[in-house]
Amino acid sequence: MKLITEQTTKIKATLPKRDANKKQEVFYNPMMKSNRNISIVLLNSIANKGMGLALPLAGSGIRGLRFLKELKKGKLDCLYLNDKKENFVENIEENLELNGFSKKKIKISNEDAERFLLGQSENESFTYFDYIDIDPFGTPNPFISVAVNKIKRNGILAITATDTAALTGTYPKVTKRKYWARSLRNYMMHEIGLRILIRKVQLPGIQFDKAMVPILSYNKDHYFRVYFRSEKGKEKCDQLIKEHQYLLFCPHCLNHQVSNYNLGKCDCGADFDYAGPLWTGKMFDAKLVSKMVKENKFVEEEKFLKALKEEAKLDRVGFYDLHVIGKKYKIEAKKMELMLKKLKGVRTHFSKNGIKTEKGIVEILKIIKK
Ligand SMILES: C[S@@+](CC[C@H](N)C(=O)[O-])C[C@H]1O[C@@H](n2cnc3c(N)ncnc32)[C@H](O)[C@@H]1O
Ligand SMILES: [Zn+2]
Repeated sequence: MKLITEQTTKIKATLPKRDANKKQEVFYNPMMKSNRNISIVLLNSIANKGMGLALPLAGSGIRGLRFLKELKKGKLDCLYLNDKKENFVENIEENLELNGFSKKKIKISNEDAERFLLGQSENESFTYFDYIDIDPFGTPNPFISVAVNKIKRNGILAITATDTAALTGTYPKVTKRKYWARSLRNYMMHEIGLRILIRKVQLPGIQFDKAMVPILSYNKDHYFRVYFRSEKGKEKCDQLIKEHQYLLFCPHCLNHQVSNYNLGKCDCGADFDYAGPLWTGKMFDAKLVSKMVKENKFVEEEKFLKALKEEAKLDRVGFYDLHVIGKKYKIEAKKMELMLKKLKGVRTHFSKNGIKTEKGIVEILKIIKK
Protein backbone atom coordinates (compact mmCIF):
# COMPACT_ATOMS: atom_id res chain seq x y z
CA MET A 1 0.00 0.00 0.00
CA LYS A 2 1.07 3.57 -0.66
CA LEU A 3 0.78 6.81 1.23
CA ILE A 4 -1.37 9.07 -0.95
CA THR A 5 -2.12 12.75 -0.50
CA GLU A 6 -5.27 14.26 -2.00
CA GLN A 7 -5.72 17.98 -1.33
CA THR A 8 -5.69 18.26 2.50
CA THR A 9 -5.77 14.57 3.35
CA LYS A 10 -3.46 11.56 3.54
CA ILE A 11 -4.51 7.93 3.22
CA LYS A 12 -2.91 4.55 2.87
CA ALA A 13 -4.36 2.80 -0.15
CA THR A 14 -3.47 0.81 -3.25
CA LEU A 15 -3.18 2.68 -6.52
CA PRO A 16 -4.67 0.93 -9.56
CA LYS A 17 -2.16 -0.24 -12.19
CA ARG A 18 -4.47 0.89 -14.98
CA ASP A 19 -8.18 1.47 -14.34
CA ALA A 20 -9.50 1.41 -10.79
CA ASN A 21 -10.97 -2.01 -9.96
CA LYS A 22 -12.65 -4.18 -7.32
CA LYS A 23 -9.47 -6.13 -6.59
CA GLN A 24 -7.61 -3.23 -5.01
CA GLU A 25 -6.97 -3.98 -1.34
CA VAL A 26 -8.18 -0.52 -0.33
CA PHE A 27 -10.07 1.17 -3.12
CA TYR A 28 -8.70 4.51 -4.27
CA ASN A 29 -9.35 6.04 -7.69
CA PRO A 30 -7.28 9.17 -8.44
CA MET A 31 -9.53 9.85 -11.46
CA MET A 32 -12.41 10.62 -9.07
CA LYS A 33 -10.63 13.46 -7.27
CA SER A 34 -12.68 15.96 -9.26
CA ASN A 35 -15.90 14.17 -8.26
CA ARG A 36 -14.86 14.56 -4.61
CA ASN A 37 -13.77 18.19 -5.05
CA ILE A 38 -17.15 19.10 -6.50
CA SER A 39 -19.05 17.34 -3.69
CA ILE A 40 -17.16 19.51 -1.20
CA VAL A 41 -17.89 22.70 -3.14
CA LEU A 42 -21.58 21.76 -3.33
CA LEU A 43 -21.93 20.98 0.38
CA ASN A 44 -20.17 24.24 1.22
CA SER A 45 -22.51 26.17 -1.10
CA ILE A 46 -25.90 24.97 0.17
CA ALA A 47 -27.57 26.38 3.28
CA ASN A 48 -27.86 23.01 5.11
CA LYS A 49 -25.99 22.81 8.44
CA GLY A 50 -25.52 20.22 11.19
CA MET A 51 -25.78 17.41 8.69
CA GLY A 52 -25.67 13.63 9.08
CA LEU A 53 -23.53 12.60 6.09
CA ALA A 54 -23.61 8.97 4.94
CA LEU A 55 -21.08 7.28 2.68
CA PRO A 56 -22.44 3.72 2.32
CA LEU A 57 -19.75 2.75 -0.24
CA ALA A 58 -16.87 4.64 1.32
CA GLY A 59 -13.94 2.75 -0.29
CA SER A 60 -10.70 4.17 1.13
CA GLY A 61 -12.79 6.75 3.01
CA ILE A 62 -10.95 9.58 1.29
CA ARG A 63 -14.16 11.51 0.55
CA GLY A 64 -15.27 11.30 4.16
CA LEU A 65 -11.89 12.28 5.55
CA ARG A 66 -11.81 15.25 3.24
CA PHE A 67 -15.32 16.24 4.42
CA LEU A 68 -13.94 16.35 7.98
CA LYS A 69 -11.18 18.75 6.93
CA GLU A 70 -12.69 20.76 4.11
CA LEU A 71 -16.35 21.33 4.99
CA LYS A 72 -17.10 24.66 6.63
CA LYS A 73 -17.56 24.81 10.38
CA GLY A 74 -21.01 23.72 11.51
CA LYS A 75 -21.81 21.73 8.36
CA LEU A 76 -21.13 18.28 9.77
CA ASP A 77 -22.90 16.80 12.75
CA CYS A 78 -22.09 13.14 12.17
CA LEU A 79 -20.17 11.26 9.48
CA TYR A 80 -21.25 7.68 8.75
CA LEU A 81 -18.61 5.64 6.92
CA ASN A 82 -19.52 2.19 5.64
CA ASP A 83 -18.05 -0.34 3.23
CA LYS A 84 -18.48 -4.10 3.07
CA LYS A 85 -14.80 -4.78 2.36
CA GLU A 86 -13.41 -7.00 5.11
CA ASN A 87 -10.50 -4.83 6.29
CA PHE A 88 -12.50 -1.60 6.07
CA VAL A 89 -12.71 -0.68 9.78
CA GLU A 90 -9.00 -1.26 10.38
CA ASN A 91 -8.04 0.83 7.36
CA ILE A 92 -10.34 3.71 8.18
CA GLU A 93 -9.08 3.81 11.75
CA GLU A 94 -5.50 3.90 10.50
CA ASN A 95 -6.32 6.68 8.06
CA LEU A 96 -8.14 8.70 10.72
CA GLU A 97 -5.07 8.47 12.93
CA LEU A 98 -2.79 9.40 10.05
CA ASN A 99 -4.68 12.67 9.72
CA GLY A 100 -4.91 13.31 13.44
CA PHE A 101 -8.72 12.89 13.63
CA SER A 102 -10.46 11.60 16.72
CA LYS A 103 -13.47 9.31 16.25
CA LYS A 104 -15.78 11.93 17.66
CA LYS A 105 -18.70 12.57 15.26
CA ILE A 106 -17.76 9.49 13.19
CA LYS A 107 -19.59 6.16 12.94
CA ILE A 108 -17.81 3.36 11.13
CA SER A 109 -19.51 0.18 9.95
CA ASN A 110 -18.65 -2.81 7.83
CA GLU A 111 -21.95 -3.93 6.34
CA ASP A 112 -23.76 -4.32 3.12
CA ALA A 113 -24.75 -0.80 2.01
CA GLU A 114 -28.48 -1.57 2.02
CA ARG A 115 -28.41 -2.97 5.56
CA PHE A 116 -26.34 0.00 6.69
CA LEU A 117 -28.76 2.52 5.22
CA LEU A 118 -31.79 0.75 6.63
CA GLY A 119 -30.14 0.86 10.06
CA GLN A 120 -30.83 -2.82 10.61
CA SER A 121 -27.66 -3.56 12.51
CA GLU A 122 -28.39 -4.49 16.10
CA ASN A 123 -27.26 -1.41 18.01
CA GLU A 124 -28.18 1.13 15.40
CA SER A 125 -31.00 3.59 15.91
CA PHE A 126 -33.30 4.22 12.98
CA THR A 127 -31.68 7.09 11.09
CA TYR A 128 -32.49 9.36 8.18
CA PHE A 129 -29.62 11.20 6.55
CA ASP A 130 -29.11 14.77 5.32
CA TYR A 131 -26.67 13.63 2.65
CA ILE A 132 -26.14 10.22 1.08
CA ASP A 133 -23.42 9.60 -1.47
CA ILE A 134 -23.88 6.57 -3.71
CA ASP A 135 -20.54 6.01 -5.43
CA PRO A 136 -20.42 2.41 -6.67
CA PHE A 137 -18.55 0.48 -9.34
CA GLY A 138 -20.86 0.60 -12.37
CA THR A 139 -24.60 1.02 -11.91
CA PRO A 140 -26.10 2.65 -8.78
CA ASN A 141 -29.26 0.55 -9.29
CA PRO A 142 -28.97 -1.75 -6.23
CA PHE A 143 -28.78 1.26 -3.91
CA ILE A 144 -31.24 3.76 -5.42
CA SER A 145 -34.49 2.73 -3.68
CA VAL A 146 -33.00 2.46 -0.21
CA ALA A 147 -31.07 5.73 -0.57
CA VAL A 148 -34.20 7.58 -1.75
CA ASN A 149 -36.07 6.07 1.19
CA LYS A 150 -33.46 7.13 3.79
CA ILE A 151 -32.81 10.69 2.64
CA LYS A 152 -34.33 13.39 4.86
CA ARG A 153 -36.67 16.07 3.63
CA ASN A 154 -34.51 18.85 2.14
CA GLY A 155 -31.54 16.45 2.19
CA ILE A 156 -29.17 15.87 -0.73
CA LEU A 157 -28.74 12.57 -2.54
CA ALA A 158 -25.62 12.25 -4.72
CA ILE A 159 -25.49 9.50 -7.33
CA THR A 160 -22.56 8.43 -9.51
CA ALA A 161 -23.00 6.00 -12.41
CA THR A 162 -19.94 4.67 -14.24
CA ASP A 163 -21.88 2.28 -16.47
CA THR A 164 -21.94 4.83 -19.27
CA ALA A 165 -22.25 2.15 -21.97
CA ALA A 166 -25.53 0.96 -20.44
CA LEU A 167 -26.89 4.51 -20.21
CA THR A 168 -25.84 5.54 -23.70
CA GLY A 169 -27.44 2.54 -25.36
CA THR A 170 -24.44 0.46 -26.51
CA TYR A 171 -26.75 -2.50 -25.91
CA PRO A 172 -30.37 -1.28 -26.08
CA LYS A 173 -31.65 -4.34 -24.19
CA VAL A 174 -29.38 -3.50 -21.26
CA THR A 175 -30.56 0.12 -21.19
CA LYS A 176 -34.17 -1.07 -21.21
CA ARG A 177 -33.62 -3.67 -18.50
CA LYS A 178 -31.52 -1.54 -16.17
CA TYR A 179 -32.97 1.91 -16.79
CA TRP A 180 -36.46 1.27 -18.21
CA ALA A 181 -35.86 3.51 -21.20
CA ARG A 182 -34.45 3.71 -24.71
CA SER A 183 -31.25 5.59 -25.41
CA LEU A 184 -29.95 6.86 -28.76
CA ARG A 185 -26.43 6.42 -30.10
CA ASN A 186 -26.03 9.90 -31.53
CA TYR A 187 -24.11 13.04 -30.61
CA MET A 188 -26.59 13.73 -27.75
CA MET A 189 -26.21 10.31 -26.13
CA HIS A 190 -24.49 11.62 -22.99
CA GLU A 191 -27.24 14.13 -22.25
CA ILE A 192 -29.83 11.46 -23.02
CA GLY A 193 -28.09 8.96 -20.70
CA LEU A 194 -27.91 11.48 -17.87
CA ARG A 195 -31.60 12.31 -18.22
CA ILE A 196 -32.53 8.61 -18.28
CA LEU A 197 -30.58 8.14 -15.04
CA ILE A 198 -32.34 11.12 -13.41
CA ARG A 199 -35.79 9.69 -14.13
CA LYS A 200 -34.72 6.26 -12.84
CA VAL A 201 -33.76 7.80 -9.48
CA GLN A 202 -36.97 9.83 -9.31
CA LEU A 203 -39.34 6.90 -9.89
CA PRO A 204 -39.00 5.13 -6.51
CA GLY A 205 -39.41 8.46 -4.68
CA ILE A 206 -42.57 9.48 -6.52
CA GLN A 207 -44.57 6.51 -5.19
CA PHE A 208 -43.92 7.80 -1.62
CA ASP A 209 -44.62 11.49 -2.46
CA LYS A 210 -40.91 12.24 -2.34
CA ALA A 211 -39.77 14.50 -5.19
CA MET A 212 -36.08 14.11 -6.05
CA VAL A 213 -35.25 17.38 -7.78
CA PRO A 214 -31.94 17.60 -9.67
CA ILE A 215 -29.80 20.54 -8.55
CA LEU A 216 -26.56 19.66 -10.35
CA SER A 217 -26.19 17.06 -13.12
CA TYR A 218 -23.18 16.42 -15.30
CA ASN A 219 -21.13 14.00 -17.35
CA LYS A 220 -17.36 14.01 -16.86
CA ASP A 221 -14.55 11.63 -17.84
CA HIS A 222 -16.14 8.18 -17.71
CA TYR A 223 -19.06 8.82 -15.38
CA PHE A 224 -22.40 10.54 -14.75
CA ARG A 225 -23.07 12.43 -11.54
CA VAL A 226 -26.36 13.88 -10.23
CA TYR A 227 -27.21 15.69 -6.98
CA PHE A 228 -30.88 15.71 -6.00
CA ARG A 229 -32.68 17.72 -3.33
CA SER A 230 -35.38 15.69 -1.64
CA GLU A 231 -38.68 17.57 -1.46
CA LYS A 232 -41.93 16.36 0.02
CA GLY A 233 -45.36 16.59 -1.56
CA LYS A 234 -47.86 15.00 -3.93
CA GLU A 235 -48.04 18.12 -6.15
CA LYS A 236 -44.26 18.26 -6.49
CA CYS A 237 -44.28 14.62 -7.60
CA ASP A 238 -47.05 15.33 -10.11
CA GLN A 239 -44.83 18.09 -11.50
CA LEU A 240 -41.93 15.65 -11.86
CA ILE A 241 -44.10 13.15 -13.72
CA LYS A 242 -45.08 15.84 -16.22
CA GLU A 243 -41.38 16.13 -17.07
CA HIS A 244 -40.99 12.42 -17.84
CA GLN A 245 -41.29 12.56 -21.60
CA TYR A 246 -39.55 11.53 -24.81
CA LEU A 247 -36.93 13.22 -26.92
CA LEU A 248 -37.80 12.92 -30.60
CA PHE A 249 -34.86 13.12 -32.99
CA CYS A 250 -34.93 13.32 -36.78
CA PRO A 251 -31.88 11.57 -38.29
CA HIS A 252 -32.82 13.03 -41.67
CA CYS A 253 -32.64 16.79 -40.87
CA LEU A 254 -31.22 16.73 -37.25
CA ASN A 255 -34.30 18.40 -35.78
CA HIS A 256 -35.25 17.43 -32.21
CA GLN A 257 -38.14 18.12 -29.82
CA VAL A 258 -39.68 16.97 -26.57
CA SER A 259 -42.94 15.01 -26.75
CA ASN A 260 -45.36 13.00 -24.64
CA TYR A 261 -45.35 10.42 -27.43
CA ASN A 262 -42.56 8.23 -28.69
CA LEU A 263 -43.37 8.63 -32.37
CA GLY A 264 -44.23 11.35 -34.85
CA LYS A 265 -43.38 12.96 -38.14
CA CYS A 266 -40.80 15.70 -38.43
CA ASP A 267 -41.56 18.89 -40.40
CA CYS A 268 -39.15 17.60 -43.07
CA GLY A 269 -41.45 14.63 -43.67
CA ALA A 270 -39.21 11.93 -42.16
CA ASP A 271 -40.17 9.77 -39.17
CA PHE A 272 -38.75 10.75 -35.79
CA ASP A 273 -36.56 8.33 -33.84
CA TYR A 274 -36.94 8.55 -30.05
CA ALA A 275 -35.14 8.32 -26.70
CA GLY A 276 -36.79 7.96 -23.29
CA PRO A 277 -38.80 8.18 -21.23
CA LEU A 278 -36.35 10.61 -19.71
CA TRP A 279 -36.23 13.69 -17.47
CA THR A 280 -37.08 16.80 -19.51
CA GLY A 281 -36.92 19.27 -16.60
CA LYS A 282 -33.98 21.31 -15.39
CA MET A 283 -30.56 19.78 -14.76
CA PHE A 284 -29.32 22.65 -12.60
CA ASP A 285 -30.33 24.95 -9.81
CA ALA A 286 -28.78 27.98 -11.54
CA LYS A 287 -28.40 30.00 -8.30
CA LEU A 288 -26.58 27.13 -6.63
CA VAL A 289 -24.19 26.68 -9.56
CA SER A 290 -23.35 30.42 -9.46
CA LYS A 291 -22.72 30.14 -5.74
CA MET A 292 -20.48 27.13 -6.34
CA VAL A 293 -18.36 29.08 -8.82
CA LYS A 294 -17.88 31.74 -6.13
CA GLU A 295 -17.19 29.26 -3.32
CA ASN A 296 -14.86 27.02 -5.34
CA LYS A 297 -11.26 26.88 -4.12
CA PHE A 298 -9.99 24.18 -6.50
CA VAL A 299 -8.19 25.69 -9.48
CA GLU A 300 -8.66 22.47 -11.47
CA GLU A 301 -12.48 22.68 -11.20
CA GLU A 302 -12.78 26.35 -12.13
CA LYS A 303 -13.21 25.92 -15.86
CA PHE A 304 -15.70 23.08 -15.54
CA LEU A 305 -17.88 24.81 -12.93
CA LYS A 306 -17.92 28.00 -15.00
CA ALA A 307 -19.03 25.95 -18.01
CA LEU A 308 -21.93 24.51 -16.00
CA LYS A 309 -22.89 27.99 -14.78
CA GLU A 310 -23.07 29.17 -18.40
CA GLU A 311 -25.10 26.10 -19.42
CA ALA A 312 -27.53 26.63 -16.54
CA LYS A 313 -28.62 29.94 -18.14
CA LEU A 314 -30.47 28.02 -20.86
CA ASP A 315 -31.40 24.79 -19.12
CA ARG A 316 -33.31 22.98 -21.86
CA VAL A 317 -33.40 19.49 -23.37
CA GLY A 318 -31.02 18.73 -26.23
CA PHE A 319 -28.53 20.78 -28.23
CA TYR A 320 -27.21 21.20 -31.76
CA ASP A 321 -23.65 20.28 -32.68
CA LEU A 322 -22.04 22.54 -35.28
CA HIS A 323 -19.72 19.81 -36.58
CA VAL A 324 -22.52 17.28 -36.91
CA ILE A 325 -24.59 19.85 -38.83
CA GLY A 326 -21.58 20.78 -40.98
CA LYS A 327 -20.95 17.16 -41.91
CA LYS A 328 -24.58 16.33 -42.60
CA TYR A 329 -25.27 19.38 -44.77
CA LYS A 330 -21.74 19.57 -46.22
CA ILE A 331 -21.29 23.15 -45.13
CA GLU A 332 -18.34 24.68 -43.39
CA ALA A 333 -18.90 25.12 -39.65
CA LYS A 334 -18.83 28.76 -38.49
CA LYS A 335 -16.86 29.96 -35.46
CA MET A 336 -18.43 28.94 -32.15
CA GLU A 337 -18.43 32.44 -30.62
CA LEU A 338 -20.21 33.92 -33.62
CA MET A 339 -22.83 31.17 -33.68
CA LEU A 340 -23.47 31.50 -29.94
CA LYS A 341 -24.31 35.15 -30.49
CA LYS A 342 -26.47 34.62 -33.56
CA LEU A 343 -28.37 31.69 -32.08
CA LYS A 344 -28.73 33.40 -28.68
CA GLY A 345 -27.34 30.15 -27.33
CA VAL A 346 -25.06 28.81 -24.62
CA ARG A 347 -22.32 26.19 -24.70
CA THR A 348 -22.96 22.75 -23.25
CA HIS A 349 -20.46 20.63 -21.34
CA PHE A 350 -21.65 17.57 -23.31
CA SER A 351 -19.80 18.60 -26.47
CA LYS A 352 -17.21 21.21 -27.35
CA ASN A 353 -19.11 22.01 -30.56
CA GLY A 354 -22.55 21.89 -28.94
CA ILE A 355 -24.95 24.83 -28.57
CA LYS A 356 -28.16 24.96 -26.56
CA THR A 357 -30.59 27.29 -28.27
CA GLU A 358 -34.31 27.90 -28.57
CA LYS A 359 -33.98 28.00 -32.35
CA GLY A 360 -34.85 25.03 -34.58
CA ILE A 361 -32.77 23.40 -37.30
CA VAL A 362 -34.34 25.35 -40.20
CA GLU A 363 -33.47 28.68 -38.62
CA ILE A 364 -30.02 27.46 -37.60
CA LEU A 365 -29.25 26.45 -41.19
CA LYS A 366 -30.41 29.82 -42.47
CA ILE A 367 -28.07 31.57 -40.03
CA ILE A 368 -25.10 29.30 -40.88
CA LYS A 369 -25.57 29.79 -44.60
CA LYS A 370 -25.85 33.58 -44.36
C1 LIG B 1 -16.15 3.04 -6.32
S1 LIG B 1 -15.73 2.46 -4.73
C2 LIG B 1 -16.07 3.83 -3.65
C3 LIG B 1 -15.14 4.97 -3.77
C4 LIG B 1 -15.28 6.05 -2.73
N1 LIG B 1 -16.64 6.54 -2.61
C5 LIG B 1 -14.30 7.22 -3.01
O1 LIG B 1 -14.74 8.38 -3.23
O2 LIG B 1 -13.11 6.95 -3.03
C6 LIG B 1 -17.00 1.33 -4.37
C7 LIG B 1 -16.89 0.71 -2.98
O3 LIG B 1 -18.12 0.05 -2.72
C8 LIG B 1 -17.89 -1.10 -1.94
N2 LIG B 1 -19.09 -1.96 -2.13
C9 LIG B 1 -19.52 -2.55 -3.26
N3 LIG B 1 -20.70 -3.15 -3.05
C10 LIG B 1 -21.05 -2.91 -1.77
C11 LIG B 1 -22.19 -3.22 -0.96
N4 LIG B 1 -23.20 -3.93 -1.45
N5 LIG B 1 -22.21 -2.79 0.30
C12 LIG B 1 -21.19 -2.06 0.83
N6 LIG B 1 -20.08 -1.73 0.12
C13 LIG B 1 -20.01 -2.15 -1.15
C14 LIG B 1 -16.59 -1.66 -2.47
O4 LIG B 1 -15.93 -2.42 -1.48
C15 LIG B 1 -15.81 -0.37 -2.84
O5 LIG B 1 -14.94 0.02 -1.81
ZN1 LIG C 1 -36.56 16.12 -40.02
